[in-house]
Amino acid sequence: MSESAQFPKDQAPTDLPAGADASGSQTTTGAPAQSDRNSLTVGSNGPILLHDVHFLEQMAHFNRERVPERNVHAKGGGAFGEFETTEDVSAYTKAALFQPGAKSEMLARFSTVAGEQGSPDTWRDPRGFALKFYTSEGNYDLVGNNTPIFFIRDTMKFPHFIRSQKRRGGNGLRDNNMQWDFWSLNPESAHQVTYLMGDRGIPASWREMNGYGSHTYMWINAAGEKFWVKYHFHSDQGVRGLTGEQAEKIAGEDADFHRRDLYEAIARGDFPSWTLSVQVMPYDDAKTYRINPFDLTKIWPHKDYPLIKVGTMTLNRNVENFFAEIEQAAFEPSAIVPGIGFSPDKMLLGRTFAYADTHRYRIGPNYHQLPVNRTKGMTEKVNTYTFDGPMAFEHSGDAPVYAPNSFGRPYSDFTGPAEDGWDTDGEMVRTAYELRPDDDDFSQAGTLVREVWNDEQRAAFVETVAGHLLGGVHGDVLERAFGYWKSVDPDTGAQIEAKVRAGQGADNPGGDAKQAVAEANNGAAIKEPA
Ligand code: HEM
Repeated sequence: MSESAQFPKDQAPTDLPAGADASGSQTTTGAPAQSDRNSLTVGSNGPILLHDVHFLEQMAHFNRERVPERNVHAKGGGAFGEFETTEDVSAYTKAALFQPGAKSEMLARFSTVAGEQGSPDTWRDPRGFALKFYTSEGNYDLVGNNTPIFFIRDTMKFPHFIRSQKRRGGNGLRDNNMQWDFWSLNPESAHQVTYLMGDRGIPASWREMNGYGSHTYMWINAAGEKFWVKYHFHSDQGVRGLTGEQAEKIAGEDADFHRRDLYEAIARGDFPSWTLSVQVMPYDDAKTYRINPFDLTKIWPHKDYPLIKVGTMTLNRNVENFFAEIEQAAFEPSAIVPGIGFSPDKMLLGRTFAYADTHRYRIGPNYHQLPVNRTKGMTEKVNTYTFDGPMAFEHSGDAPVYAPNSFGRPYSDFTGPAEDGWDTDGEMVRTAYELRPDDDDFSQAGTLVREVWNDEQRAAFVETVAGHLLGGVHGDVLERAFGYWKSVDPDTGAQIEAKVRAGQGADNPGGDAKQAVAEANNGAAIKEPA
C-alpha cells in the first residue's frame, strides 16, 4: 500500500466527530448502534430479525450509496486551489475574478471522456479540464479540455458522437470500427482526431498538460464594450506525453495513475500551476475573419490573435472526501458571472443546457446546495426564487416565494438589450455554418501534421493511426478512413494506408485477431435493425 493510501494517524477511523461516543458508533438518528459486526439473530445460528434497525439502515443505505456516474468524463480526479489575476486585463472584462490582484478559490477536475469510472487513466482520449472559480460575484465554471478544438461543431451530433466512442449495443464492447465510422462520416472531426493521435494524445500526467476553454466566449468591459476570447492554460510543469506503448503498460499496472500522481504531488507540497492567457478578438472582427471564429473545430492562429497573459492557477489542496467533493462536483458552462458571456458557437449554446440538466438527474435538483457547489466567494447569501425539491435545506424562511412582491424581497426587472448579447437575425433554418474562405475541415489538421510536428512526431503519428485502424476497422469504414487521412495530408495518408495494408498480413498478430473477431462479429460490424 502506498503511503498516501493509508489513513493519516490524526484522522479517521479514530477521529470521531465532536460529541460522538468514543465507545461505539451511532445510527443516523444518533442512538447508540449495538454492533457493527454482528446482526441480531434468534440464537447464534438463527435467522436475522427484521427489527434489527441498525442492520437495515446500514444495508439500505449501502444499496443507495452510488449516484449514477457522469455520462461522459466519468473517470477523473481533482483538487482545490487558487486563481490569481497577475496582469491588468480590465480593458477587456469587468469580471471581478479577472481584475488585477484578485484571488479566487477554485476547484479543478481532470478526466478522460469515454471510459467508465474504473477505466484506466492512460487510455487515449481527450482529457477534461473543468474549473470552478468561487468568485465574489458567484461561481464561474470554465469546463474545457486539454485540446483547443473538438470533434464536432453542432450539439445535435453530441449524443451520437459519444455513443460511437463508448460501447456497442450488441456485445457491450468498445469498437474501433464504430469510432472510425463516426469520424469518417463527420470529417469536421479531422483536426481533433489528428491532435488525439499525436504525441499530446495521452498526457504523462494531468500536471503536464495544457487546458483550453476551447470555445469562443464573450468578455465585456466596464464601458460595455464586447470582445471574443479564447482561454489557454499553459502548464508551468511543461507538456509531456506518453507513447501508446508506455500508456498501455501503465494502464495494466495502475489504472489510477493520473489520479494518484496529482494527489501525491499536492500531498508532498509540489503544487502544480498553470498560466492563463487569452486570445482576444475585437467584436467586429468576427464578422469578417477568414475563419468562422465560433467553429469549435478551428483554432485562431496566434499570429492573428496573440496570447495575452492574465494570471496563474495553482492547485494546492487535496480533497478531504472524494465522493463529496469530486463525484458530487457539478461543473456547468451555464455558470457565468458579469463581464463574461457566451457566443454564437452552437456547441457552447447546447452545453449551456446539458450540464445543469444532467446534474439535476445525476445528483438531484438541489445539487447547487452541496458544499462543493455552493458559492463561497460571495459575502451575501444567494437570493434565488428556486426553492424546495428533494433534499432542500437552504431556505428563505417565510420570505415571499414569488416576484414581484410587496414585502421587500428583491427581484430582477431588467428590460432592454442584453449586455452580453450579440447581433443576430434571419430566417429559422437547420443548416451547417455558412462557409468562409478558410473553413474547410482538413487544412488546420494538415498544418498540424506538416508545420507543427517534426519527422519523429509524424512517424509516431502514422504508427498510432495505423495501429488503431488495424484494431478491427475494415470494409468501407477503413477505405473512408484512408481517404480522410489523405485529405489531411496526402503523403501521411498514403503512409498510413501502406502500413495498414502491410499490417493486415502476418506481422500483425494482435490486429489480425481483432479483425477476425470484428468480422466474426457479423462482418460489416453492427447489424441492421431487425
Ligand atoms: C462532462 C455534455 C461538449 C468538456 C459532460 C457531461 C455532459 C456533457 C452531460 C456530464 C456532466 C456531469 O454529469 O457532471 C456535453 C455536450 C456537449 C459537450 C452535450 C456538446 C455540445 C464538451 C466540450 C468540452 C466538454 C466541447 C470541452 C471543451 C467536458 C468536461 C466534462 C464534461 C471537462 C467533465 C466535467 C467534470 O469534470 O465534472 N459533458 N459536453 N464537453 N464535458 Fe461535455
